Amino acid sequence: MHGGIALRHGLNDHVLQFGHIGYGIRPSSRQRGLATGALGRILDEARALGLDRVLIVCELNNFASVRTVEHHGGVLEGVRDTEHGPVRRYWIKI
Ligand SMILES: CC(C)(COP(=O)(O)OP(=O)(O)OC[C@H]1O[C@@H](n2cnc3c(N)ncnc32)[C@H](O)[C@@H]1OP(=O)(O)O)[C@@H](O)C(=O)NCCC(=O)NCCS
Repeated sequence: MHGGIALRHGLNDHVLQFGHIGYGIRPSSRQRGLATGALGRILDEARALGLDRVLIVCELNNFASVRTVEHHGGVLEGVRDTEHGPVRRYWIKI
């Protein structure tokens, strides 16, 4: 198991706070393109479910996640302060 990715659908408060998609790759499997590939596949799932855009939220300085989101056309909505620190909010149009 190299990691995981989850799609939450709907546009409830939880999704609007944490985003539609969350992912993590285990440290020994990182920097091989797995997160970028997995995000592409789950965007296909989101499209099949009828979503036209998804929100992805990541920590301000999580550059690996930022690059992953940018590979799929993520557009920065802005940075928001949360109880866990500042986060970036990206929307990907699908
Ligand atoms: C974020 C995460 C999922 C990326 O996984 P990954 O499989 O290593 O990502 P990829 O191999 O697809 O790489 C994506 C981009 O990030 C870059 N990258 C990956 N790790 C990096 C690092 N440590 N430092 C700088 N850039 C990094 C890659 O070079 C690539 O960019 P590029 O194509 O422009 O070179 C992984 O680091 C992780 O699990 N982190 C902890 C959990 C987490 O932060 N999840 C995201 C929550 S929103």
